Amino acid sequence: MNPSILVTGGAGFIGSHTVVALAAAGYQPIIVDDFSNSEASVLAGIEKILGYQVPCYAEDCNQYQLLRKIFREHQIVGVIHFAAYKAVGESMQEPLAYYQNNLGSLITLMDAMLAEGVPNLIFSSSCTVYGNPDHPPVTEETPIKPAASVYGNTKQIGEEIIRDVCAAKPLKAISLRYFNPVGAHPSAEIGELPRGIPNNLVPFITQTAAGLRSELTIFGGDYPTPDGSCIRDYIHVMDLAEAHVSALQFADHQPSTQYYNTFNLGSGNGHSVLELVHLFEKTCKTPLPYRIGPRREGDVVAVWADVQKSSAMLKWNTKRSLEQALEDAWRWQLKLSGNQT
Ligand code: UD1
Repeated sequence: MNPSILVTGGAGFIGSHTVVALAAAGYQPIIVDDFSNSEASVLAGIEKILGYQVPCYAEDCNQYQLLRKIFREHQIVGVIHFAAYKAVGESMQEPLAYYQNNLGSLITLMDAMLAEGVPNLIFSSSCTVYGNPDHPPVTEETPIKPAASVYGNTKQIGEEIIRDVCAAKPLKAISLRYFNPVGAHPSAEIGELPRGIPNNLVPFITQTAAGLRSELTIFGGDYPTPDGSCIRDYIHVMDLAEAHVSALQFADHQPSTQYYNTFNLGSGNGHSVLELVHLFEKTCKTPLPYRIGPRREGDVVAVWADVQKSSAMLKWNTKRSLEQALEDAWRWQLKLSGNQT
């Protein structure tokens, strides 16, 4: 029997791609997702890729008894916890909702894991914990800066809570600090599904190229970077998804019953917004109307990952190029646009 892994938020962008990666690696994923920021159609996309239906509980994961029941019924051996709110701006308007949802569900989840003896936890953290770093690239030892948003603070506090629990109780956990996930599954059956106007760069680019938005605004052209726009580390979402499988196996193989570590997940390369725009136009052979606008409040100037620790310890490396990520994102957008007409 394939070992069962609970994926909270498994219908979301990174969650759905990780479900596919888990299945490809011989695991049985089980999804819990309340669909508050995801669509039921994602499950059909996953089914098309895998050829079978992945069990899904359409529930809020912040339910202790429900989690215990799922752990027992499916003999869950590990949890990948994606379920969380993730809009930086909204988090400043609704701090309590963010602390309640992002930290409340984490505490409930770990409580239920300890009660049922589920040994392995993978947590979605973020490069936002590094804030505006003085000297990119950042390693896992780079000092954590005070969080610039409530969202970022939920990730910092989440990491600390997990570290403290692992020091006291039989739990092996890993926090994965994501840089900027982009792209889609190459089948174009699943991808990013932002609601309303996208906050993130690549969905905004693909929607603009598809004619759904009139132009992209580049947030700031006067930063102290070579071309004046911000620099980020963009990573193909399938590379990111596969890292979760590596992290899970790594945690599971730790001989001690208590373990905690953090890993950066990026490509190791920084690209400016302008570079990304031009790479999209070239790779996807589609013009992209854009203008340089004012800076966006709270944006980091430049950050990219040092991935030596992930590569050495998790035995994981990225396999896909940024061009491939943009092509996959574009194929996914064309499919979505086709469906809309
Ligand atoms: C940020 C966080 C990330 C968090 C994510 C949640 C950092 C370094 N990263 O990502 O941890 O998970 O929010 O959403 O804090 N841009 C434009 N025009 C647009 C959209 C974006 O120019 O219309 C630029 C931004 O200024 C930025 C880059 O594109 O320089 C990427 O932006 P985005 O995709 O929103 O991700 P981050 O802000 O890097």
